[in-house]
Amino acid sequence: MFLPKLKALQMEQTVNFSSPLSWGISDPIKFSALMEEAKKLVAPGYYLGDNLFTWARNNSALEDEAFRDAWQTNIVNDADEAILWRRYILACAAYNCVQLPGDFVECGVYIGTGIKTVMDYLGGTGFPKPYWGYDTFDYNPVEGHAFAGQGEGFYELVQDRFVDYKQVRLIKGLIPDCFSDGIPEQIAFLHIDLNNADGEIAALEHLFHRVVSGGVVVLDDYEWSGIYRHQKQVEDKWFEERNYRVIPYPTGQGMLIKR
Ligand SMILES: C[S@@+](CC[C@H](N)C(=O)[O-])C[C@H]1O[C@@H](n2cnc3c(N)ncnc32)[C@H](O)[C@@H]1O
Repeated sequence: MFLPKLKALQMEQTVNFSSPLSWGISDPIKFSALMEEAKKLVAPGYYLGDNLFTWARNNSALEDEAFRDAWQTNIVNDADEAILWRRYILACAAYNCVQLPGDFVECGVYIGTGIKTVMDYLGGTGFPKPYWGYDTFDYNPVEGHAFAGQGEGFYELVQDRFVDYKQVRLIKGLIPDCFSDGIPEQIAFLHIDLNNADGEIAALEHLFHRVVSGGVVVLDDYEWSGIYRHQKQVEDKWFEERNYRVIPYPTGQGMLIKR
């Protein structure tokens, strides 16, 4: 099994990251000007983007060369660039899970960048497991939430992106109905990113009991507030009934490790 290696760290090295994209900003021009000033006031190792501004951080994602390549070569829009830290959390979780029994699953694939970044980090076309991706693809069932390109022919476009990745099984349809077209017996890694509570709870109902002990569940929207807060509300209840507590991340994600 291919596992990427980390290079020895240089103690003096500090890496900064800055992306212009964050969400929920009323005056982007003013915000950008203020953040340019703020960056000058903080210790090195800052990260700006995806609604985060941190400093004096290692920014490990950019020091892991194998990950940096996987992330950079798969960027297809501004969001893919901005969510660097989220992607690295996925990739590190996947690194641990690829060594467990069970397949990889993503609920909410969109154009496939999440899946492809993880696979390219962990062996590319040699990735050692089936990777199941569920999405409606050609439309977005969440009202007002369609992403660029979602329309007729989009499913085929995403399939083309994975033409050399024989492990990828893209299943088109509404969750949970599309699970009747196939779900893995055992799951090592489960990424749920549907932007709606009903779909995510349905995914958990059908898939969580199949996650192996030590397997990781990443909820992309869990710690986002505003329109996403309802997801946390129902997911907290669902997990509490099973004596689990989701770990909230400043990236907006939530994570848990299956017992
Ligand atoms: C934020 S995007 C996924 C992004 C992707 N995980 C990534 O990392 O690049 C959310 C996707 O969920 C899909 N979706 C939302 N609810 C769904 C449902 N009930 N069944 C199937 N797909 C759904 C949408 O069509 C959309 O493509």
